[in-house]
Amino acid sequence: MYDFKPGAQLSTEERYRQLCQAADALTADEPDAIANMANVAALLWEFLPNLNWAGFYRVGRAKSGKDELVLGPFVGRPACIHIPFGHGVCGTAASSGETQRIDDVHAFPGHIACDAASQSELVVPIMRDNAVIAVIDLDSPQKARFTPTDAAGLEKLAELLAGRV
Ligand code: SME
Repeated sequence: MYDFKPGAQLSTEERYRQLCQAADALTADEPDAIANMANVAALLWEFLPNLNWAGFYRVGRAKSGKDELVLGPFVGRPACIHIPFGHGVCGTAASSGETQRIDDVHAFPGHIACDAASQSELVVPIMRDNAVIAVIDLDSPQKARFTPTDAAGLEKLAELLAGRV
C-alpha cells in the first residue's frame, strides 16, 4: 500500500517538496507514462487543498495534422478531450511553453470551462528536448488560489516528470 499523506499544517514549499518526493518514489522505476500520470494526478489531489480538478493533458496530433492537447489522467469532473494549441489556458501554456497562473478564469480570453465551479487555474508545461510534451493542469473553486510559490512547486514537479511521462 502507498500511503503518502501530507501533514495538516505544512507550508506551501514543504507541501510541494513532499509531493515531489512522493512523485519521485512512485515514478522512478515505472516506464509506463499513463500509470505515472495517473499516480501523480492522485498525489496532486491528495497534497494540494482547494482543488476541483487536477491532471494532465498530453500533446497529440489532431485529424487536421496540427498539434493539440488530449485529455490524460486526472481527478475531478469529466473534462473536454481535445484542446487546440493556443486555445484556453491549457492551449496557451502548450503553445507558449510558459506557465499560466490565472487568478480569475472568467477574465481569461478563451478560457475553456470544463467545470462551472472553476474560478482560478494553474497550468505548467512539461518540456522534453525543448518541446512541450504535456501540461499539468490544476483548477480551483477559489479565486486567486494559486500563488507564485504554487507555480514554482509545480514547475519542479514538471521537471521531475519530463523523462517519465
Ligand atoms: N480550463 C482549461 C480546460 C481544461 S479544464 O480546466 C480541466 C482551459 O481553459 O484550457
